[in-house]
Amino acid sequence: MNESNKIKAVIFDLDGVLVDTAGYHYAAWHRLALSLGIEFSKKDNEQLKGVSRIESCRFILKMGGIVKTEEEINELCALKNSWYLETIVGMDKSELLPGTEKLLKSLQMHGIKIGLGSASKNARTILDATGIDHYFDAHIDGNDVTKSKPDPEVFLMGAQKLDLDPHDIVVVEDSIKGIEAALKGGFITLGIGLSSVLIDAHHVETGLEHVDITLLKNLQQVAQGSKVQL
Ligand code: BG6
Ligand code: MG
Repeated sequence: MNESNKIKAVIFDLDGVLVDTAGYHYAAWHRLALSLGIEFSKKDNEQLKGVSRIESCRFILKMGGIVKTEEEINELCALKNSWYLETIVGMDKSELLPGTEKLLKSLQMHGIKIGLGSASKNARTILDATGIDHYFDAHIDGNDVTKSKPDPEVFLMGAQKLDLDPHDIVVVEDSIKGIEAALKGGFITLGIGLSSVLIDAHHVETGLEHVDITLLKNLQQVAQGSKVQL
């Protein structure tokens, strides 16, 4: 078999890749930071994309030089989540990012497995609300993992569930921490966003509407060191 035909699965991050929720997470963290008198910019937020709720809260407190007990941190997380949930209540297919469903359908048609590798504990709710849950062969989210990205745990659990080797799986991520996690796990990485931000990814596109099976197959060759035009 030709090396370029070996892609066996794609594991997608959720927030900011499949659904337009990254801005809602940022808005809720920004509100929490403000309530604590901490300035928190969009640039700061890049460090939090892909990071678990509790680790994100710890990061913001550290930025502000504020010390809280574990109980207080849990309360702040619950407050942030309540604000976040207010913004996603009533969510439907319209929150899917361009190209999402077309790509999922195409992968399914070509027999390429589909996994979810998200840090979010709200992932199941979002997949159900947007009606894409049925496409996934494996689902790993914030309720399953013990370590936050950039640890590769979430993607390695996904590969294990799919019973596949990370070298045959493309991870699609919009976060610096997520790309780092996938690279540590030995996966092929496709960044969604800006190449100036996701500098370590094997390749970056601005959205899933620019991604198709041919690009994913060629990406594997790029990850193996070949110079292929993507
Ligand atoms: C990630 C987001 O997908 O999930 C982060 O990029 C978020 O911004 C994290 O903090 C945890 O999400 P949740 O829904 O469990 O608070
Ligand atoms: Mg994300």
